Amino acid sequence: MDQLLIQGGVPLSGEVHVSGAKNAALPILCAALLTGDSLLVDNVPQLRDVHTMLGLLAQMGMQVAREGTAVRLSGANLDHLVAPYDLVKTMRASILVLGPTLARCGRARVSLPGGCAIGLRPVDLHIKGLEAMGATIRIEHGYIEAAAQRLHGARIFMDLVSVTGTENLMMAAALADGATVIENAAREPEVVDLAQCLTAMGARIEGAGSDVIRIEGVARLHGAQYRVMPDRIEAGTFLVAAAATGGRLRLLEARADHLEAVVEKLREAGATIEAAPDAISLEMRQPVRAVNLRTAPYPAFPTDMQAQFMAMNTVAQGTSLITETIFENRFMHVQELKRMGADIEVEGNAAVIRGKSALSGATVMATDLRASAGLVIAGLIAQGETVVDRVYHIDRGYECIEGKLSQLGARIRRVRAHP
Ligand code: EPZ
Repeated sequence: MDQLLIQGGVPLSGEVHVSGAKNAALPILCAALLTGDSLLVDNVPQLRDVHTMLGLLAQMGMQVAREGTAVRLSGANLDHLVAPYDLVKTMRASILVLGPTLARCGRARVSLPGGCAIGLRPVDLHIKGLEAMGATIRIEHGYIEAAAQRLHGARIFMDLVSVTGTENLMMAAALADGATVIENAAREPEVVDLAQCLTAMGARIEGAGSDVIRIEGVARLHGAQYRVMPDRIEAGTFLVAAAATGGRLRLLEARADHLEAVVEKLREAGATIEAAPDAISLEMRQPVRAVNLRTAPYPAFPTDMQAQFMAMNTVAQGTSLITETIFENRFMHVQELKRMGADIEVEGNAAVIRGKSALSGATVMATDLRASAGLVIAGLIAQGETVVDRVYHIDRGYECIEGKLSQLGARIRRVRAHP
């Protein structure tokens, strides 16, 4: 497995482009299942998860072709309506093929994702919503067996705010007979991006970005061209890396309006931040101050930025409290940060971090995508060398992270695993 070798202590400085958003690209690629026409999706990042999703869609019979930063998909000949366990277990977002496949083809067989490092992550809300729209769903041998003559509109109240749950049901409702209302819907920008792509394909959707989304089903959707939004979590990760190392950064193609909670916390930590329409600049002119945070659904502080801020808090002035309310096991990075000398105590879903003057480099293990981002930030801060193992986790969600960080002056290189 590849490793990242980092010599810490260099303040980041310079500018980088933010890539297309992983968590918008994944549902948007699945939207191509809803039509026999071709969908051209631009600004698709080169990531493991995107590669996995394109492989799954091709296996289902989609025509998939990379055209530079774009991907052209055509769903004219869907002939294998199955998302197999060996693929789904590597990427839970595969569940996003369920809604569109069922809506377009009347049946789908999707492996249950199973748990993952950060939590149980059930998909009961996806299933409950599709049943409300008239689907017959059986769970057999670890698979979701779904069938529906034609889905019909329904009023669906989501017990919990679920990003992919909202996205799955919105795609299914786009071709259902009648109107669907999703209440307590997720408000994330990635949900809005998907809704805008579906609208370009002829769907009739109102309220995306609010907690009530209304979809008027249509008989068919047509092809379109759509450009994926920039990745707000990649952008946030680089902003924290620049703040934590006491540097300065200009992010191009970044949307500050997608990062208000994160920018607010960075300002509280002492960063000077200027936001332009599609760029964000940060400068750290003073020592980092410890910040408390509590994760919650958008527009509150995002759980996907929790590990990154924890890494920064380990060397901040003061003590901080981080409360994780979305996932039940998203502190896997704590043990690894403690091996680097961090002073962190975990009690349930809360962590208390006492800022120290420095971390010391060590060999640490990545366990999930955002935990590994936190460990890279810790390596950039620490004295000496840090080796981050199992870097495939980070490749799932960050496009060439060592290249972008090197551009900013970081001393980081990838060591390829022996074949
Ligand atoms: C999406 O996951 C993101 N993934 C995650 O990003 C992100 O952390 C998460 O939303 C929260 O913002 C993609 O968009 C591909 P949820 P998702 O359904 O949709 C519970 C990353 O790092 N729940 O919003 O799977 C669930 O257990 C990844 O890029 C149910 O109980 O998350 C969790 O506690 C990690 N039943 C909460 O809701 C359900 O049917 C929120 O989960 C669905 C969810």
